[in-house]
Amino acid sequence: MDFFEVVRTRRSVRSYLDEDVSDGEVRRLLEAAILAPSAGNCQPWEFVIVRDKKRKEALSNAALGQRFVAEAPVVIVVCANVPRTAAHYGSRGANLYVIQDTAAATQNILLAATAMGLATCWVGAFDERRVWEILELPDEVRPLAIIPVGKSRRTPAMPPRIPLERVVHYEKW
Ligand SMILES: Cc1cc2nc3c(=O)[nH]c(=O)nc-3n(C[C@H](O)[C@H](O)[C@H](O)COP(=O)(O)O)c2cc1C
Repeated sequence: MDFFEVVRTRRSVRSYLDEDVSDGEVRRLLEAAILAPSAGNCQPWEFVIVRDKKRKEALSNAALGQRFVAEAPVVIVVCANVPRTAAHYGSRGANLYVIQDTAAATQNILLAATAMGLATCWVGAFDERRVWEILELPDEVRPLAIIPVGKSRRTPAMPPRIPLERVVHYEKW
């Protein structure tokens, strides 16, 4: 698939077939993730791969009951190792760069999945403390995105975009 077709066809998919996603496929997604840019190349990302049914249920509950999180065969939780970046960039690193860097890694996962014929959804609505407990994360690690990965049962149409003309500004606002 051509890059622009990948960008155009990626959708947030919230319904998955009862089919597995292999460890090899997950590895390819993570290999794409770590090619993302990061501030000072600090690479604050950490990934927790969840296949256990009970743990997926717990994540689904922590994500305000979003059922599809538990229904995907595998869930990738993208986390930030905050001190890895904060050690170099202080509060700007802790409050901004780690979010941007892990968001870039998350987007790489979504795009790689699309290119591989897999379906994902970026889930950001969750109780961070509960996810932190479920995954037994260390103090300094924040869970920032939950990505259920599966094979699409139902791919929605593209939600409308605000037209480019309304959001682009030349030279000044
Ligand atoms: C930071 C962020 C958080 C999101 N959180 C959720 C979520 O908790 N649940 C959900 O169903 N979709 C979530 N989404 C997906 C958006 O709803 C989706 O990207 C948007 O509606 C556009 O649809 P598309 O991804 O198919 O282009 C999130 C997306 C982003 C970038």
